[in-house]
Amino acid sequence: IYGEARPNARGVNLANEIEVDELAERMQKFARSRWDVTPLLAGDMISEATATVDNCNPALPSDVVGTVRDATADEVVAAIGVACDFAPHWDRTPVEERAAALVRAADAMEDNLPEFMALCAREAGKTVRDSISEVREAVDFLRYYAMRARKDFGEPQVLPGPTGEHNQLSLHGRGVFACISPWNFPLAIFTGQVSAALAAGNAVLAKPAEQTPAIAAAAVRLLHAAGVPREALQLLPGDGASVGGILTTDPRIDGVAFTGSTETARLINRSLANRDAPLAALIAETGGQNAMIVDSSALPEQVVKDVISSAFLSAGQRCSALRVLYLQVDVADRILEVLEGSVTELVVGDPRRMSTDVGPVIDTDALDMLQAHARRMEKEARLIARARVPDSLCGHFFAPCAFEIDGIGQLEREVFGPILHVVRYRSRDLDRVIDDINAANYGLTLGVHSRIDRTQMHVASRIRAGNRYVNRNMTGAVVGVQPFGGERLSGTGPKAGGPHYMHRFATERTLTVNT
Ligand code: NAD
Ligand code: ALA
Repeated sequence: IYGEARPNARGVNLANEIEVDELAERMQKFARSRWDVTPLLAGDMISEATATVDNCNPALPSDVVGTVRDATADEVVAAIGVACDFAPHWDRTPVEERAAALVRAADAMEDNLPEFMALCAREAGKTVRDSISEVREAVDFLRYYAMRARKDFGEPQVLPGPTGEHNQLSLHGRGVFACISPWNFPLAIFTGQVSAALAAGNAVLAKPAEQTPAIAAAAVRLLHAAGVPREALQLLPGDGASVGGILTTDPRIDGVAFTGSTETARLINRSLANRDAPLAALIAETGGQNAMIVDSSALPEQVVKDVISSAFLSAGQRCSALRVLYLQVDVADRILEVLEGSVTELVVGDPRRMSTDVGPVIDTDALDMLQAHARRMEKEARLIARARVPDSLCGHFFAPCAFEIDGIGQLEREVFGPILHVVRYRSRDLDRVIDDINAANYGLTLGVHSRIDRTQMHVASRIRAGNRYVNRNMTGAVVGVQPFGGERLSGTGPKAGGPHYMHRFATERTLTVNT
């Protein structure tokens, strides 16, 4: 329980061999399963369907996870119509009913942990640890937003007024929300967006990332089985420009919850603004150019442990991941020596093996982008260390590596993968470092390693970042504990998994009655 009435998602004790073996055995049942995906619509399927394509495992492209049939343009338009008609009914459904359906879905997801883990591994290349965290985060979102809905969307709030006048304030769904999600948290972010929008009383059209539709379809089927009406939640697989483009230009959409790149957020913002339609809400959670600052009072072994987990685990495919490590010169060589050893020892491999630290990157586009960046760094920077990719692997694997560069300004944009950039700084230049980090204009996560209270607070208060971590790793925000999200190029807020998130999915109305 995080100080609020909701159970924490069930964990797995990875130190307990019996528990781990049992889980592995249950996952094994899904080793050859196929999850075929079609649009999940409330109305009739429209017959002129597009062809299906194979959906393959990024760690082993010959492993076909299933086929995918994208939503056609006609289906997207029809689904918006169904959602529009149903939205007022769903908004009037007692909040307790909406919340109870989400809690049932959370329980079912927890019970189906092995299948969701198998999906996370085979469709998204997630390691065992990451798959467990992914499912737990999705379960936490379902329970957290159910709890917040009961708290904020139940009885109207009574407001003061003169004698004879009754005033109240209530929250309502905005109408139809499009939820557009990325592949890197294919279950947690997908479920978080959808459940917040539903709990607030909106009808939802969910567009998952092209790379991970099967995980999304499994989550939608589970929500339907838990009691969320099909008219309230429809799944529209397809690519960003076509399905996403229709959703974000249609005048009937009342809001968009988007998580993905800053470039796509800009496009969506423009599309919504150009519609001849009521003004829509946009929640955009985007990328980061996240830094960690380490001073000479920090503990080197702890720093390296936290750098490895922040920069390289999850194959660096977290928006929160560490990209630029600033080391005070006095300790830089000592820390780099330990870091070099640790990077070299990272085990890159089959994500289903417990011994694997780093799984594949999501697809060939991601691999090409990382290889191109590494080639550029080899020319412009000094290679500190590189892990090894075993020859036996045939998926989209990239060797984690670290380079020493001059400053964050040398990087044009977020590099989404396991590449760390290291910069040395002198203690007297700390404020310049802070200015440089702020000048990159992102504002997602920040790490500080220092045992000096004044330095911790100086850095944390001057760097504009949504999630600031002192003397620990800087990834893995927990729902309700570290509400997550950034500012400026990193997003609009409000923070996912925090008390204000659902308000953005809602509209506020007052009622004044002269008695
Ligand atoms: P992306 O922007 O390419 O795609 C995200 C989603 O947007 C996908 O579903 C995609 O199909 C859709 N899309 C693409 N073009 C569209 C368009 N024109 N109109 C409507 N929808 C469109 O991002 P990605 O590569 O899937 O994800 C990685 C990015 O997401 C990184 O930049 C990462 O930092 C960011 N991210 C941010 C957070 C956060 O909470 N801040 C969390 C996870 C990922
Ligand atoms: N919420 C995710 C994290 O904190 C992105 O790592």
